[in-house]
Amino acid sequence: MQIYRVGGAVRDRLLQLPVYDNDWVVVGASVEQMLAAGYQPVGKDFPVFLHPKTHEEYALARTERKSGRGYQGFEFFASPQVTLEEDLQRRDLTINAIAEDDAGRLYDPYGGQQDLQARLLRHVSPAFREDPLRVLRVARFAARFHHLGFRVAPQTLKLMQQISAGDELHTLSAERVWKELERALGEADPQQFLLTLHQCDALERLLPEWQRLFDADATAKDGNGDANTVLRGLHAAVALGCDSRERIALLCCYIDPDAAQQLFERLKAPREYRDFGLLCSRH
Ligand code: CTP
Repeated sequence: MQIYRVGGAVRDRLLQLPVYDNDWVVVGASVEQMLAAGYQPVGKDFPVFLHPKTHEEYALARTERKSGRGYQGFEFFASPQVTLEEDLQRRDLTINAIAEDDAGRLYDPYGGQQDLQARLLRHVSPAFREDPLRVLRVARFAARFHHLGFRVAPQTLKLMQQISAGDELHTLSAERVWKELERALGEADPQQFLLTLHQCDALERLLPEWQRLFDADATAKDGNGDANTVLRGLHAAVALGCDSRERIALLCCYIDPDAAQQLFERLKAPREYRDFGLLCSRH
């Protein structure tokens, strides 16, 4: 069996950013071999294991096929015959689809290093469309890497628009949307999360309460409507060291309390976020 480091850890090391956790892909191994080597299975249908000592995630190389609606509607096919290239091909962005072996050699069949250089968030294959969660992930990466000069590739934005135009975004659970929102608003350029979602028409589907800010902007003659004010405000909040709870509350200052209440309820937001957001909206 061969083991490779993959995903965010390789990407962040190449960007010379700190790496907090490693994900691994295992090629040429069976479930039985993994169990015999002492790895702990995670979930029952998923070919992912925890290392007996480091507890890092080791996933058997797999291919995925869409079998139903939403981001959970997938069938996995993991076997010792699945190649590294096949596993990397099912991933979201080229910069997340680079593997590294224990000698530090990189395997990059989809041009991830080139896109790191070009500062492009680009999908690996048309299969990107099969997972609506990726709309939120790409917007989150835009918020995280904007200060490094990254932007969403036009073709990828097109696929995100196609996902928004279908009804798949509605299959995302409230918890998933909340988790991505909370993480994204904690990034260096949270305004890029909202802007990217707006550009691909996902904002009105997922966070319609904040879409209204952009609608108001469209009607402002001088282009200095609510959205610009809010986005500048968010930028300032980051500079002041506000955390994501405070940044979300700031966004609530621009919507009425009923809309804020609706937003927090729909997303099943934690109480401390809701209470502070509502307070800001009311006052
Ligand atoms: N991945 C994917 N599609 C998803 C989720 C994950 O293709 N919907 C793949 C990507 O290759 C990603 C890897 O699985 O790099 C690991 O996922 P995750 O740990 O969620 O993300 P990271 O890229 O490691 O980013 P982060 O730094 O936010 O943890």
